Amino acid sequence: MTWNLKELEKKFAGKLFGKKVCYYAETASTNDDAFSMGMAGAAEGTVVIADRQSRGRGRRQRLWHSPANVNLYTSLILRPQIHSFESSRIPIMAGVAVADVLESFCPGCVGLKWPNDVLLNHKKVCGILSQARIHQGRIDFIVLGIGINVNMSLDQFPEEIRHTATSLIMQTGREFSRQELLIRLYENLEKWYKQLTQNGFDAIRKKWLDFAIMMNQNIQVAFGNEIIEGRAKDIDSDGALILFVERNKEIKVSAGDATIIKR
Ligand code: BTN
Repeated sequence: MTWNLKELEKKFAGKLFGKKVCYYAETASTNDDAFSMGMAGAAEGTVVIADRQSRGRGRRQRLWHSPANVNLYTSLILRPQIHSFESSRIPIMAGVAVADVLESFCPGCVGLKWPNDVLLNHKKVCGILSQARIHQGRIDFIVLGIGINVNMSLDQFPEEIRHTATSLIMQTGREFSRQELLIRLYENLEKWYKQLTQNGFDAIRKKWLDFAIMMNQNIQVAFGNEIIEGRAKDIDSDGALILFVERNKEIKVSAGDATIIKR
């Protein structure tokens, strides 16, 4: 099914998110599009969607595999009134919002892997990439990019991620309307965004921890050539991971790829 943009317009009327939706059948990256729009002054709440991305961006310069018509590739422009050092709260908030939506389709099988991968039955179903434009020490805007594997079948995944990635259809056995999922996603994101901007990070941190799959587990975090091992304890008020390392010394990690150590 393709998009019904008129219906989207109606559903998002009066809302903060989705009041403007830009659709591309194909684009390089919805994050790149949203970033250019942000630079040109696009309003907070502007949404970009595409049926296919030819250079979908993943975290840490990776590519996000983006075949046509089966998944959700979307980016949102935010202009939050928060300090630039708090910008890492945004993708954590988005992870909670996505997890919250997916939980209703697959109860009990949703997990969050730090910093913001959403998993179904321990396999990655959604990736989140936020890119901030900071101007004179303040956030000008943030592009929040979300990719959800929706109706993609196993053979559509590149072989090297077949054992670690999944889609909604693979986990539930039923096809999903991308249109309905998009609506639910942005309604829920708006709810959690307001929670963040009006009431702070506490409730989001708590909800994130409810979904977290790594707490109290021995994990390793890789960043470039560096690997840190420790026991995952918590996240702090900016979404950094708190680890117990040797002799119960506590350290904070703010970026990297985390995996549970299986011994
Ligand atoms: C990750 O590596 O986990 C983050 C993946 C983010 C992918 C989404 S798809 C929509 C948006 N546009 C992009 O180019 N990337 C994000």
